[in-house]
Amino acid sequence: MSGVESLARDLVPPDRYSVETIRLLAWGHDMFRDLPGNSLLRLARYYGVVSQREEELHPVLLHGKVAASYLSNRFGIDNDVSKAIYWHVTGSAKMGELGEILMIADMGEEGREFPAAEEIRINAFIDRKKTVLDVIRFKMLWALEERRPLHNEIVCCWNHYLRRYLSDTD
Ligand SMILES: [Fe+2]
Repeated sequence: MSGVESLARDLVPPDRYSVETIRLLAWGHDMFRDLPGNSLLRLARYYGVVSQREEELHPVLLHGKVAASYLSNRFGIDNDVSKAIYWHVTGSAKMGELGEILMIADMGEEGREFPAAEEIRINAFIDRKKTVLDVIRFKMLWALEERRPLHNEIVCCWNHYLRRYLSDTD
């Protein structure tokens, strides 16, 4: 079992999602992660995914959208799993609970060795909403430190989850 699957299984509410659902989520999200950039751009075009400027510069950003489009077209999987996979790279207000779990499990899984991973892994069991926010924050910080452009979708996602977090803690 992959680290992502293992952590996601521990995080999902019992009786809410099947083992198969979580396995598909973990297996499918990075299925195209290692494709060359030009292949990702071609596949995105094939599936009608409109690439944004940041994605054309860094096509790896498209791997979630391409994977979800493939699962939908090839296997008719068009549900919370494909939505979570679609948005797992930048996050989105539309990613749903499974999207949140996938983003957390992806960053916090036991195979990750950077210090933030353990923080994410532990905090996910204490305060899920704050942990989602932290995952988005760490992703944005990474992009800034690497002098990469900030995808507008991650900025929208940050603003959405920050608003939600602040209104919940008022
Ligand atoms: Fe990914």
